[in-house]
Formats: sequence, structure tokens, C-alpha cells
Amino acid sequence: MSSLSIRNVRKSYNNGVEVLKGIDIEVEDGQFLILVGGSGSGKSTLLNMIAGLESVTSGEIRFGDRVVNDLAPKDRDIAMVFQSYALYPSMTVRENIAFGLSVKKVPKAEQKETVRRVAETLQITHLLDRKPGQLSGGQRQRVAMGRALARKPSLFLFDEPLSNLDAKLRVEMRAEIKLMHQKMGTTIVYVTHDQIEAMTMGDRIAVMKDGVVQQFGAPQDIYDNPANLFVAGFIGSPSMNFVHCTLNEQDGKVSTVIDNAGVKTEVPLPFSLEKLRAHIGRKVIFGIRPEQITDTRSAHSETGQLLQCRVELTEPTGPDTLITTRLNDAAVTCRVHPREAVHAGASMTLLFDLSKATLFDPDSGERLS
Ligand SMILES: Nc1ncnc2c1ncn2[C@@H]1O[C@H](COP(=O)(O)OP(=O)(O)O)[C@@H](O)[C@H]1O
Ligand SMILES: [Mg+2]
Repeated sequence: MSSLSIRNVRKSYNNGVEVLKGIDIEVEDGQFLILVGGSGSGKSTLLNMIAGLESVTSGEIRFGDRVVNDLAPKDRDIAMVFQSYALYPSMTVRENIAFGLSVKKVPKAEQKETVRRVAETLQITHLLDRKPGQLSGGQRQRVAMGRALARKPSLFLFDEPLSNLDAKLRVEMRAEIKLMHQKMGTTIVYVTHDQIEAMTMGDRIAVMKDGVVQQFGAPQDIYDNPANLFVAGFIGSPSMNFVHCTLNEQDGKVSTVIDNAGVKTEVPLPFSLEKLRAHIGRKVIFGIRPEQITDTRSAHSETGQLLQCRVELTEPTGPDTLITTRLNDAAVTCRVHPREAVHAGASMTLLFDLSKATLFDPDSGERLS
């Protein structure tokens, strides 16, 4: 078991391009860290540096008190699971799981007990005598995890382990990995491009873009208080709505004009005029999540702004219906009760909970309030 510190870590490949630009991440012993971001953001590079498969150009990686920058992968006490399962095709599941142990010359009886325990945890006991070729994708991924688990590492590293699985299995495996973590309590670093995996699995999330951690924190904090436009748009599904507007001052308060189907309404915004004075008369991006715009009957909040809106699209998801309207030319998704949703082309009264809305600077993308 081990805590993990990543301090001002940088990585340049031989072509001179810097792909990690000063990464700082601290996780406690037993935490589940997610590195999430789009393709090419540097997630795998960082994970491989933690594993010792890539050198550290500058900065420091520590497991507990120990700097591991120059430690060989085999001396780091880690286990890694990749998107491709890399099982030995000629060995049975039992032999695959025990492989690392037999290499380490662990006594046979102990190997047997470990395989039993791991197979039970992952519910693959009935598959122990099969070969990888006789398994489904999900079962193979479980065996790959079993092989990692058998080694009782102090750090587990996962690189997009569920990307090859179909949607339903991915959801199941997501829960199983989380349950496994609750049972074992081993520190995990888990790479994914899937923000739902990030939200649902992690204790801590590092949202990455272009080799920079955009925000590091607990999932709900990041969801509720995104640091910038990128994080706000990346975390959450459907995404946060972004509406370009101009800030006004009206009766000592901040307001803005919202246009829906040609009807303009001056909407007061619950932000501090003092903080935003420099932005009055200027363009900003107004951000609001779909669940903060709802029908009047299922609204959680009594307060908010009512707007009569023309509905362009209706998408039932089962528990909710997503409707799309258009504000200042931006398509805006709202989450309403299925019973309250009207048909496309009709108009409905929507309640905007502005208390959780956010404003962003359109140039820098930084959050203004
Ligand atoms: N061996 C390498 N040599 C040069 N550039 C590399 C190498 N490996 C990765 N990169 C570059 O580093 C960046 C980050 O890659 P990677 O860590 O694989 O991103 P991710 O896992 O987030 O998709 C990419 O721009 C990629 O092209
Ligand atoms: Mg990758």
C-alpha cells in the first residue's frame, strides 16, 4: 500500500515536444485516482512514468516517502492492466493468474490459495481450467485483472481497461472494479477518456488536456465547481450548456438579455456586481447544466427564472425527457419530467435555477463566478 506524489513532473520525447508540462498530483494511500482527458492529453505517458516504463524528464514521483524516478518497473511493486489483455494463449486461466507468482517462486500451496481467492473475488472460479481463446472479452479482462490482483501490489495501474468492451459490460465491470477496490483498499491510478467512468469510480479526478492538469479534485467538487470552460464541458452528460451573452448592470444588479425564438427577456443573474464590474458591457459565456433547467412541477428550487421557451427537440431517456431549446442561438438541453414534456414545435415554461449557473471568460476560458 502506498500514497502517490507527482511533483512538477515534465516529459519531453526526443523530438523536443513537451507532452507533460508540470504535473502536480497527490493521492493518499488507498485512494482511487482517475486520469481523464481526450486522446493525446498525456494520460498514458503519465501512467507509464508511474510504472517506470517511461523516463521522467524532470520532477519527482514518490511512492510513500520513496522517490522512484530511477527505479526499474520490477522494483516498484506495481501491477498494470491494459486495454489489450495480453494473456498467455497457451496457458489456462489458472496458470495465467498464477504466472507472476510462479516466476517469483512462491510456494505452490500459497499460489493455489491466491488463485482461489482472486478467482472468487472476480467470480471466475468456473473458468479456471479454460484457455483465453474460450473466453469472452469481459471474461478475459477479468482474468487480466486477476493476474494483477494475485501479485498484491502496492499500486494498481489501469490504462483504459474497459475500452474494448461493449456498453453493458463496461457498466458492470466499472462497478466490479470499484467493489474490488473497496475490498482490497489498494491505491489505484486509472486512465480513461470516459468522463462517466471518471465520475463514478474515482475518489480523485485529474482532468487533463494538452499535458496540463486542468483541475484536480473530488468528482462532485469538479462537477459542481469546474475551474474552466474545458472542464465544465468535459465532465457531465449531457454537457453543460454554454450561452454567449453580454453582461448588463440593472438596478445595481448583474443581468443579461436572453433571446428565445425572437423574444428577448432581461434576466437578473445572482452574481456579485462588485466581482464582475470589469465585465459589465462585455461578452461572457453563461454556463448552466441540463438538470438546472426543468419544468415547474419537478423543480427542486422555488426560486429561479421562468422563461417561456420554444421546444426544438424532445428526447425521452426513460426517467427524464431531454428537451432542446435555443437561447441566443445556442442549443440548450433541459431535463424535464416525461409527463411535462411538450412536443417539438410547442412552447413550454421552463424554470432556470440560476443559483448554480456559472460564467466564463470567452477568451481565456477561466471561470469568472
Ligand atoms: N514515444 C513517443 N514519442 C513521441 N511522442 C509521443 C510518444 N508517445 C506519446 N507521444 C505523444 O505524447 C502525447 C500524449 O500521448 P499519450 O500519453 O499517449 O496520450 P493519451 O494516453 O492521453 O491519449 C501525444 O501527443 C503523443 O503523440
Ligand atoms: Mg492512452
